[in-house]
Amino acid sequence: MSKKILLSGVKPTGAPHIGNYFGAMKQFVDLQKDYDGYVFIADYHALNFIQSKKEMEKNIIGVLLDYLAIGLDPEKLVIFKQSDISEHTELAWIFDTLTTMPYLMRAHAFKDAEAKNKEICVGTFNYPMLMAADILLYSPDIVPIGSDQKQHVEIARDTAEKFNRIFGETFKLPESKIIEEVATVPGIDGKKMSKSYNNHIPLFSEYEEIKKCVMCIVTDSSGGVPKNVYAIHKLFRSDEELKKIYKEKEGKYKELKELLIEDIEKFIAPLREKRKEFEKDIPKALAILKAGSEKAKKIAEEKMKEVREKIGVNI
Ligand code: ADP
Ligand code: TRP
Repeated sequence: MSKKILLSGVKPTGAPHIGNYFGAMKQFVDLQKDYDGYVFIADYHALNFIQSKKEMEKNIIGVLLDYLAIGLDPEKLVIFKQSDISEHTELAWIFDTLTTMPYLMRAHAFKDAEAKNKEICVGTFNYPMLMAADILLYSPDIVPIGSDQKQHVEIARDTAEKFNRIFGETFKLPESKIIEEVATVPGIDGKKMSKSYNNHIPLFSEYEEIKKCVMCIVTDSSGGVPKNVYAIHKLFRSDEELKKIYKEKEGKYKELKELLIEDIEKFIAPLREKRKEFEKDIPKALAILKAGSEKAKKIAEEKMKEVREKIGVNI
């Protein structure tokens, strides 16, 4: 029996943090033995945020090295770049024609921007349509993500259903795969860890940087257990172990933070070293990406042929 398919992507908008890792990227690695599938670099999505050739190029290579360093195996999952497959933007356009403005106005990302009175670009408004195309072209069973992306997968499902209803059965409906305990990893201020809130611990940080981040974790003095420190610590040790340690060291915030620094360092050091190894041979990493894009292209081309046929432009 053939394996089920997974698909997910990360935007090249800067160095990933431990929230990205535990919420999403670790799942790609853990699932690759049981699933076939696709993990890609969402560079056209990142264009909404990164508008500099130099930075975009650097960030794309960055995500590629991150993927390899965390242990994604190109023999098991296809690693590719979104912009190499023009079918993504082509299908996104077709979805644009089926989707109403009020429907997309209900998306969280749009509502947040509106609430902040931000002037957003059309690309940000349409973001979920490109994401629906990313997903539906490859007929995945599951889309491993953090909880902030759940609505986007629901939009992809709705879009697939709508297309299927109008033009006949074409797209498989995907399920999002979220791990509850790490659905929203908190940052050093207790809010959702995010690059944009500057409350993150970078995944490949050096020891000094880890130390600086941990020392900045906001502690309040309620009950002797610093809850923001504990919440991050939970990523590295079991609740059982931590309860004992935090009881023994009740109120000793500095010692608890020092232990957290050591635990994070123990976890990050091997990843950091692996990334440095891959960094020594960027042409080799780029060749992996190119080969992946060639494989993905074949699947996307086939699906688009079916879509063009269904909508009646293949005369
Ligand atoms: P950011 O919010 O830092 O810009 P991205 O949007 O690039 O992160 O997210 C990449 C992946 O990491 C997505 O699947 C997203 O759901 C997941 N993710 C991001 N932040 C967190 C978090 N704090 N906890 C769990 N998962 C997260
Ligand atoms: N929107 C996702 C994020 O911000 C990245 C992404 C783009 C994605 N296309 C996707 C994730 C398709 C899963 C599937 O993190």
